[in-house]
Amino acid sequence: MQVTGTVLTTRRVDAYHALTVVAPGIAERYRPGHFVSVAVGGAHTSMITRRALTVHDVKPDYGGTVELVFTVRGPGTAWLAERRARDTLDLVGPLGRPFPLPRDPVHCVLVGAEYGSAVLFPVADALMERGCRVDFLLGGASADRVFGAMRARRMAETTTLTTEDGSLGLRGKVADALPSVIADTRADAVYACGPMETLRAVTAVAIEFDIPVQVAVEESMACGIGVCMTCVIPVIGDDGATRMVRACAEGPVFRGERVRFEDVGTIPFDALGAPGGGARHAG
Ligand SMILES: Cc1cc2nc3c(=O)[nH]c(=O)nc-3n(C[C@H](O)[C@H](O)[C@H](O)COP(=O)(O)OP(=O)(O)OC[C@H]3O[C@@H](n4cnc5c(N)ncnc54)[C@H](O)[C@@H]3O)c2cc1C
Ligand code: FES
Repeated sequence: MQVTGTVLTTRRVDAYHALTVVAPGIAERYRPGHFVSVAVGGAHTSMITRRALTVHDVKPDYGGTVELVFTVRGPGTAWLAERRARDTLDLVGPLGRPFPLPRDPVHCVLVGAEYGSAVLFPVADALMERGCRVDFLLGGASADRVFGAMRARRMAETTTLTTEDGSLGLRGKVADALPSVIADTRADAVYACGPMETLRAVTAVAIEFDIPVQVAVEESMACGIGVCMTCVIPVIGDDGATRMVRACAEGPVFRGERVRFEDVGTIPFDALGAPGGGARHAG
């Protein structure tokens, strides 16, 4: 649904910006892993595409609010960073498919890199409501880019932090620390969000331990609603065939081992419908 929401609060969280927006219908329908697309630049802008942002928090206040956490990347997010309380924002959502949740009370490790960690907090709430044990592994390039460390420490059984420059927690990337976190927590499942290369490395570790991994991917998006095909990535289906699927509509959450990370950004020759290839077209 499309909502014109009023900005309730703005705040800085270390290197990130956070906006809380009154968006009743979206908050009500939200499930952990959904994202929203935000119109940027105002009425007369040349920025015609919306910007995709995951939802960090949903609250019932004022009929329903959503909190978005973002880093300034280019003109769209720079414009968003200038919004102030009482400004209005045009949001469409909730979009995409949320994280599937286990039926049984299993042990889950939630792995987040940079602002990708933001989406894991509603996931943690939902898992804990089901009696799951939750452990966090959060990382970033430097201490100010590790999102949510304090909140994670309050919620989870254990919280492990990594930074590439060694300014907080273990030096390195989240995937480097993941094997020992899985072993120590006897994890049954991994939930992850962050850049593609992080998700690829996290998935490789989960495969090594033979446990399921759900990843929320971030692929460039234009429409966010399944129309333009900007966001397609190669994903292996139940039948073993690779299809180019829309990260905005079929994702952004996928089983990690089904995503052909090494081929993202290309159309593999063996994907269904690929030019000159594709299993169904062979012969
Ligand atoms: C499902 C999803 C969830 C996301 N959640 C968050 C979040 O919670 N916090 C956050 O900081 N960022 C998030 N992003 C990335 C965010 O959408 C981009 O940083 C933003 O669109 C960049 O816009 P810009 O105008 O500032 O930068 P520019 O680089 O100038 O953007 C130019 C164009 O490219 C598209 N684009 C560029 N980079 C990306 C990207 N990484 N992903 C998607 N589209 C891109 C923009 O939509 C825009 O149309 C998410 C992306 C996706 C796909
Ligand atoms: S962004 Fe248009 S189809 Fe996914």
